Amino acid sequence: MADRLDESGIVPFLRAGPAPDRTRREGWQRWRRQRDLFTPAPRLSLEEYAALSPRRRGLHDIHRAATHMNIGLLETPMSARVTRLMRSRLRNNALNFEPGTRDGLMISGGGYLGKTETVCAAAAAFEDVWRDLHHQLLPPPAEGTRDLFVPVAYCRTPVRATPKGLCAAILDFYGAPLPKTLNAMIRAVRDSLRDHRTTALLLDDITRLRLHREDDQDTLDLVRELMDLNVTLVLIGVDIPTSGLVRGGYPNPVTGQWIVAPVSTGKSFNPAAATQTERRFDLVDLDPFDYDTEEGVTAFLAHLAGIEDRLRLFRAWPGMLTEGEMPEYLYRRTRGIVGLLKRLIEDGTADAIESGTEKLTPEQLATIPIRLGNMADRDPSEIPQIPENTSPSPGAPRRRGRNTVFDDHGPRSAEAT
Ligand SMILES: Nc1ncnc2c1ncn2[C@@H]1O[C@H](COP(=O)(O)OP(=O)(O)O)[C@@H](O)[C@H]1O
Ligand SMILES: [Mg+2]
Repeated sequence: MADRLDESGIVPFLRAGPAPDRTRREGWQRWRRQRDLFTPAPRLSLEEYAALSPRRRGLHDIHRAATHMNIGLLETPMSARVTRLMRSRLRNNALNFEPGTRDGLMISGGGYLGKTETVCAAAAAFEDVWRDLHHQLLPPPAEGTRDLFVPVAYCRTPVRATPKGLCAAILDFYGAPLPKTLNAMIRAVRDSLRDHRTTALLLDDITRLRLHREDDQDTLDLVRELMDLNVTLVLIGVDIPTSGLVRGGYPNPVTGQWIVAPVSTGKSFNPAAATQTERRFDLVDLDPFDYDTEEGVTAFLAHLAGIEDRLRLFRAWPGMLTEGEMPEYLYRRTRGIVGLLKRLIEDGTADAIESGTEKLTPEQLATIPIRLGNMADRDPSEIPQIPENTSPSPGAPRRRGRNTVFDDHGPRSAEAT
């Protein structure tokens, strides 16, 4: 790390420019390369911090805030399942050189459960390996030409999308021109995937397609068409089994895989489709933490310990998030939803730095509402219900006076000077 210090001894941690747009191939590449590069703030004691110049203290505070905003993905039992399945499916499908069917994946779950981030991280890890391998076998693209190799394409379905809207989102990823008719668009999608040797197509928020009108045959036909593409299709959405996306499909009672019939009307644009029988998908549910079982509680505590390890608060103590009333309180505030927990911790730590308390307690978190920010780009079904009661111990009388709160800090808590 020392080699990354600049002459003033400060680790560079700010990024220039806006966050990369993963729904464009350049942005996806930038995000993939940068995703693990953030350097957390060093752990300073209060004494070391006090010894800094005011300017350095200010910079350190910003670096701490950035560290709390960039906690990163922590593996949970739920995300591990998704990652494992994606890794083996993407790799095996990519190594299958025969034309035809590829088993797909469907990642289902409510909003803020980590579907997008978990899937993108797994796909990026696959792409790292796949690119490496590819460049060892083939020369890199000539200087100044566009790299046509795009192994992973990531697209978000626009809110209240139509089939054309979804096709446009896919073509936009490649920067391809948009044809006028739906049929021409589907053909262009097929061409783009083939020309860029794409092996994985991720369609996020797919349940935003209007799937509930029984007569919306266009939409269903499109989904079936996409299933016929010669890539691993990863569909991500809210409550996929009841969404209409797999209408007419059924889970195989033995393997649990969903079986979906191909386009039946004979108007498919895939010449191979006529000979193909069905599409198979593994469906994985990304659930919240479960506080009712022992394993569930253990996993939640491990997650909290992972977060705690990344916090840089001067008056924190080991067990700040994992002991006493805190775990249960955090569970009650967030119902075990990772994204809500992340928001609460972000705002809680910002408040702890600003107010100078430099620690998190249920009493302090009770003053902090969970705000999800801009909801305009979310469908109502993707917005989780946030528990309203924020008081630390429901039913029990609230502790009065802050003195008792300070009693159980443990031996290692830093003392104020
Ligand atoms: N395993 C995880 N560990 C830590 N944070 C996570 C994890 N999974 C998701 N998050 C965070 O939760 C928030 C919501 O995740 P996101 O993937 O957007 O959810 P979804 O797509 O299901 O709505 C994001 O800010 C993300 O960084
Ligand atoms: Mg998402």
